[in-house]
Amino acid sequence: MENLLITGGAGFIGSNFVHHILDRYPDYKVIVYDKLTYAGNLDNLQDVADDRRYSFVRGDICDMGLVEEVVQEHKVDGIVNFAAETHVDRSIVEPGSFIQTDVYGTHVLLEAVRKFSLRRMVHISTDEVYGSVVEGSSVESDNLRPNSPYSASKAGADLMCRAYHVTYGVPVVITRASNNFGAYQYPEKVVPLFITNALDDKPLPLYGDGLNVRDWLYVLDHCEAIDLMLHEGQDGEIYNVGSNNELTNLELTDTILELMGKPQSLIQFVEDRPGHDRRYSLDSAKIRHLGWRPKHAFENALEGTVRWYTENRWWWEKIKSGAYDSYYERQYGTRQVLTGS
Ligand code: NAD
Ligand code: DAU
Repeated sequence: MENLLITGGAGFIGSNFVHHILDRYPDYKVIVYDKLTYAGNLDNLQDVADDRRYSFVRGDICDMGLVEEVVQEHKVDGIVNFAAETHVDRSIVEPGSFIQTDVYGTHVLLEAVRKFSLRRMVHISTDEVYGSVVEGSSVESDNLRPNSPYSASKAGADLMCRAYHVTYGVPVVITRASNNFGAYQYPEKVVPLFITNALDDKPLPLYGDGLNVRDWLYVLDHCEAIDLMLHEGQDGEIYNVGSNNELTNLELTDTILELMGKPQSLIQFVEDRPGHDRRYSLDSAKIRHLGWRPKHAFENALEGTVRWYTENRWWWEKIKSGAYDSYYERQYGTRQVLTGS
């Protein structure tokens, strides 16, 4: 691959991946294509803005004309698709934009791969498509049982990728990763929300009983996996990317508070998320057979993440004081507090 179109590259994982590619592959050109929704942020890419191998196009993946124009103009030969509406709580409030971007938008990119015979598309999916897993771990051939409008939209995109591979031979690889954490994550997701709230001694709103389980993957380990898939994944295949690091939300919160030297009294139990999946768990043997494994120990990576948000208030303060808060006030009101300080 020489000219890589990175859709959604101004978001959390996408921007970490842009840094990864520019660091690792001196000969690659990267074209970030991003709509800059509330979650897209050019601050995430400011340190590569002057790199001659990098260019940015503001655009919607649902805009087939613009996608085709950019693919031709930049002689794109591969696509990595991060572009999506990604927050489960928002999907419960307004599912339409999830269906539009996550399903229809993925179809537009698949069409471009087909029309211009691109070499490879990697589609970034999620463990949430398997639904809640009470026991054991999901393998790639398991049935999809998505429970939120977000995960149902992601499942729709995965099925569209499969159909394009089977029907048209489109060279697409799907990755399904667990919960990522790290720098540049929008502070509506639990890790950056709780770290930044704790920095300001504000309550940490824990949903329900706090015993839902997530598997925590450091974003740079995820980027390594996507890199491997871009170069050595098999067309038409799906690869789980998990870290075997399952924690209840309460355990995660306790760890964050401990690392920050903040009191447990900041925890505030609030009403649960509707349809809240109890647990996700991935069997990642398939990608591990290709040589990938997480390189970062969880506690070290979480400590580094706490440090990053502590040292980069400039990055998150303007987000939290702007659109983010008013969105939440408008859409959700305040969650009912169950117990806590
Ligand atoms: P994010 O919300 O931080 O970023 C999404 C990016 O997509 C933003 O830059 C946004 O502007 C852009 N975007 C949204 N709609 C668009 C559109 N119509 N056209 C072009 N760009 C658009 O998301 P993230 O957490 O970085 O997730 C990236 C991908 O990884 C998503 O597909 C998500 O489903 C998947 N994923 C995320 C996680 C996680 O824990 N964050 C885990 C597994 C998979
Ligand atoms: O599993 C991968 C998925 O992880 C990705 O596909 C999604 O794009 C990403 O948003 C993330 O989804 P989650 O719903 O798991 O992430 P979130 O950070 O929203 O919530 C993590 C857990 O913490 C979940 O059980 C809900 C809980 N939670 C979340 C928030 C925002 C709280 O208890 N309080 C909160 O304020």
